[in-house]
Amino acid sequence: MVSRVIPVDTFDLVIFGGTGDLARRKILPGLYRRFVAEQMPADARIIGAARSEFDDDGYRAFVAEALDEFLPASLRDAKAEAEFLARLSYIPIDARGTGGWKELAATVRKDVIHAFYFSVGPGLFGDLAERLHEYKIADAQSRVVVEKPFGRDLESARALNAVLAASFDETQIYRIDHYLGKETVQNLMAVRFGNVLFEPLWNSQYIDHIQITVAETVGVGGRGGYYDKSGAMRDMVQNHLMQLLCLIAMEPPSHFDPDAVRDEKLKVIRALEPIEPHQLVRGQYGPDGDKPGYREDVEDPQSRTESFIAMKTQIANWRWAGTPFYLRTGKKLKSRMSEIAIFFKRTRHSIFTENEGEHQNVLIIRLQPDEGMTLTVTIKEPGPGGMRLVDVPLDMSFAEALGPHAEDVPDAYERLIMDVIRGNQTLFMRGDEVEAAWAWTDPIIEGWQKRGDVPKPYDTGSSGPDDALMLLHRDGRRWREIRPEGS
Ligand code: BG6
Repeated sequence: MVSRVIPVDTFDLVIFGGTGDLARRKILPGLYRRFVAEQMPADARIIGAARSEFDDDGYRAFVAEALDEFLPASLRDAKAEAEFLARLSYIPIDARGTGGWKELAATVRKDVIHAFYFSVGPGLFGDLAERLHEYKIADAQSRVVVEKPFGRDLESARALNAVLAASFDETQIYRIDHYLGKETVQNLMAVRFGNVLFEPLWNSQYIDHIQITVAETVGVGGRGGYYDKSGAMRDMVQNHLMQLLCLIAMEPPSHFDPDAVRDEKLKVIRALEPIEPHQLVRGQYGPDGDKPGYREDVEDPQSRTESFIAMKTQIANWRWAGTPFYLRTGKKLKSRMSEIAIFFKRTRHSIFTENEGEHQNVLIIRLQPDEGMTLTVTIKEPGPGGMRLVDVPLDMSFAEALGPHAEDVPDAYERLIMDVIRGNQTLFMRGDEVEAAWAWTDPIIEGWQKRGDVPKPYDTGSSGPDDALMLLHRDGRRWREIRPEGS
C-alpha cells in the first residue's frame, strides 16, 4: 500500500489561545506531525496569539517543550523540529482590548488561505470575531475553527451561532467534534457505503439492536470545574456519541460532500425519540482506596452531576423503528474501550435444532484502542460430533491489515486541521445540527433535574452502576463486556 499524503496549499493559521492546553496537547503536536509527513508547504505559517507576553523565540521554546511532552521520541528529529519551529511566530493579544490587533493585521496574509482557530472559551468568540473584522483581518475567505463545548443548552448554542453568524458565513465556520476525525469513525462510512454487503441489511428488519460504548479509565482530573457543570450527557453524549449514532443511522447521502452528509445526520437527530426516565441510568464514581471519588474530584460533596450515563434511545423513522440504540459512556471504568456493536437478528428459522436461536452475527467496530472491525459468524465446530455450531470472529485489526502505514494515520486533530485548510467541512458540525442535538438533550436533562434524580454510585474499575445492566436485561439483551485492554 502506498502512503498518499496530499500537500495542502499554503496557509496562515492563527491560534487564539496558542498557549493553552489544547494547543499544547493536540493542535501544535498535530501540526508538527503533518509537517513531518510533508503535508505542509514550505511557506505555511502558524501564528500563536494569547495573553502571555512571549516574543517569537520564547514561543518557539514553549512549543518545543510541548512537543517534548506530547510526542513520542520516535517522531522527534532535531532538524525537522527546527524547521517546524521556524514557521511559528507569536503575537501577544488582548481579545477584549486593542493590544496586538494591528500587529496581527500586518502579519496575516490575506492572499493565501487564512484560518483562525478559536481555542478559547466560548465567551470570547464574539470579541474575537468582532476584532477580526474591525481590524480587517478576516474577510469572506477566512475560516474560523471553534471547539466544543458549543453551548450548554439550546439557548446558549443559538446565541453562539448568532455571534458567529454576525461575522462569518456558515461555510466559513468549522465546529470541531474530534470524534469525527478519528480514523475508524470515518471507516464507519466507508464500511456502510463502500460495500454492497452491509447496506441491504442495515435496518430494523435485520438489525436487532445497536450498542455504542465509550468507556474511559480516566477521571475528571484537573477539569472538575468544567466537568461538574457539564456531566457525561453534555460532555460526551450530546456531541461525540450523537455523532457516532448519526453515522450509523443516517440514510446514504447522494454524495460525500459536506451538506449532503450533514443534511442526513440532521434528519437522524430530529427523528430521535424523547427518552423516558426508565430508559436512562446516571452514575457517579466512588472513591477507590485512598484515591478520591467524583465528589472529591470536583470538590462538591453534594454534586449530582453524572460521570456515567447509559440510555436506550429509538429513532422514529422507517429504517429504524423497532431497533433500539443503547448508548453508554463513563469515566473511571474498567478499561479504555470505545466501540460500536451492531447485533443482527437471529436467523428466522434454524434448521439446526440442537442450537436453535443461540447464534447471532455481530459487527463490532472498534474505535480505540486497537482500531479495527470484527464480524462474528456462525460456523460448524470442526471435528466429529454432529452439527455443533459455534460463533467465530472474522477479525481485522487495522494495524495488522495496513502494516506500517497504520502508524502514519493522522490523529483526529491533525486530520481535522488539514480539512480546515483544504476547506472541507464534511467532518465538522453545522450550526443546525448542534442546535438539534441540544433540542433533544435539553428536556432529558431538565427531566432529571425536575425529578431531583441522584446519580447511582459505581466502583472505580467497574462497568458502571448495576442499573445500567438492567436497561438491557429488561429487554432480554446484554451489554458487551468492557474488556481489559489487549484482551
Ligand atoms: C472530550 C471530553 O471531548 O473527549 C473528555 O471533554 C473526554 O471528557 C474526551 O475524555 C475523550 O476523547 P478520546 O479521544 O480520548 O476518546
